[in-house]
Amino acid sequence: MSAPDVEQWRDPAKTLCHCHNVCAGRVRETVAASGARSTDDVARACKAGTGCKSCLPDIETILEQERAARPGILGRFLRFLRGSR
Ligand code: FES
Repeated sequence: MSAPDVEQWRDPAKTLCHCHNVCAGRVRETVAASGARSTDDVARACKAGTGCKSCLPDIETILEQERAARPGILGRFLRFLRGSR
């Protein structure tokens, strides 16, 4: 079994949730604009993940990527302590 291709969700036009025709960019915008922190938050904001639920791991991948890109104050503090920006 190969590792999941997490980079595929960097393409904003790629359809992530086929049940509701939601693209990866829309999920990313939802996370950034609404501060969604879970798949339930994303589902409430844009319906992605509320059908067959097969896209939930992919939504979680985007959530993890966005968390890494936009760390909260604790994450920024820990990066500061480690000497990285
Ligand atoms: S593909 Fe997203 S809920 Fe079915």
